[in-house]
Amino acid sequence: MGSRVLLVGSGAREHAIAWKLRQSPLVDDLFVAPGNGGTAQVAVNLPVQAKDVDGLCRVAAEHRVDFYLATMDDPQPLGLVDRLTAAGVLCFGPTAAAARLESSKAFAKDFMARHGIPTADYRTFADHAAAAMYVDSLPDGPLVVKASGLAAGKGAIVCNNRRESLDALDLIMRRRDFGSAGDEVVVEERLGGWETSVHAFCDGRTYRMMPFATDYKRAQDGDVGLNTGGMGAYSPSARVDDGLAAEVEARVVAPTLLGMAAEGAPYGGTLYPGVMVTPAGIRVLEYNARWGDPETQVIIPRLAGDLFAVCRAAAEGRLAEAHFGWSPRAAVAVVVASGGYPATYKLGHLIEGVEDLDSDVLVFHAGTKQEAHGLVTNGGRVLTVVALADTLAEARLRAYDNVRRIRFTDATYRKDIAAG
Ligand code: AMP
Ligand code: GLY
Repeated sequence: MGSRVLLVGSGAREHAIAWKLRQSPLVDDLFVAPGNGGTAQVAVNLPVQAKDVDGLCRVAAEHRVDFYLATMDDPQPLGLVDRLTAAGVLCFGPTAAAARLESSKAFAKDFMARHGIPTADYRTFADHAAAAMYVDSLPDGPLVVKASGLAAGKGAIVCNNRRESLDALDLIMRRRDFGSAGDEVVVEERLGGWETSVHAFCDGRTYRMMPFATDYKRAQDGDVGLNTGGMGAYSPSARVDDGLAAEVEARVVAPTLLGMAAEGAPYGGTLYPGVMVTPAGIRVLEYNARWGDPETQVIIPRLAGDLFAVCRAAAEGRLAEAHFGWSPRAAVAVVVASGGYPATYKLGHLIEGVEDLDSDVLVFHAGTKQEAHGLVTNGGRVLTVVALADTLAEARLRAYDNVRRIRFTDATYRKDIAAG
């Protein structure tokens, strides 16, 4: 008898993972809470929100779920993995204690300092006056000010000078724009370099690397405009050679797993450190205790193997035994968004053209909803279009050739994903 699997989330990331799980003969039933118009095509959507851990535990029991695969950040710090595990559900995802790597930047920074993991120099503060005094004591220059808690990817404010840093402290600690995520603040050295997204399957003791990916966080071409959840991605990352990959494993991923285990909070699930390659070497910008979006949409299609089997092996603590590989093909993902995103935008526009895409091009839904009259927009990031090809250049051409066939009012996308 196959498994009954639960995912939580409603992004293109969850659709990509649901799509891949559907190909596993080991999966009988798949549930996504709350899901979207795309997950509805491959799974059963359940109307429970990601932070409603009581509700998630209730529907897991109701539907006799026996496996939970964590993809997004919200439920783990609230103890979903701990509670489901206690209820006999096998889980691939971090406990609340392990998820602190993402849910508390102050914890993550102190953890890295304890274990010699390279990161930007920093100080943490729970008090606004002390933080402001510290900023005032530094030479006037660039800094990064971060709300310590989960802030939907928006809690890091990159500042050019003292004035901007003080404003950032004000916004986080006094105006409390990120709510209790701003109870503590991290003030850190601003680094220069280029970023890569690192993903690894983890089982508490062992890790297995996924391919490196590059994402595009800013809203507009040329990396300008507001920070978004991510406007596109590609994999493999052309700039990550074997030497750099080995260094990231040895100096970041391996010591993170060892350190968490040594501290009594072994990390299980997907670990996604964001790494900056600076002139002085690699630095961890942050840990994410989840899969990246849209990185997942370019990583998952390259997985040669059964995703469920890999995650189950990890959940059972025998990741080393899992058999899988990675396709050498390149993947390019372009996010089609609602005009105005990440600020204000309208919902409910009819989406046309999804049926006209090439049969081997993948389209993963995020903000979509199936209505009687057709598929309509229901969020900022609407769809991710993913093309694979032998070269990155060809994958890019194919992705854009297909993106242009998708039509809805005010549709927008970046034109420079994977452009070098
Ligand atoms: P975080 O949420 O900590 O990953 O920060 C979000 C984004 O802010 C990162 O992807 C970087 O582009 C930028 N960032 C974060 N920390 C730093 C830093 N110390 N120096 C320069 N840029 C940073
Ligand atoms: N793509 C950035 C993130 O998932 O945080």
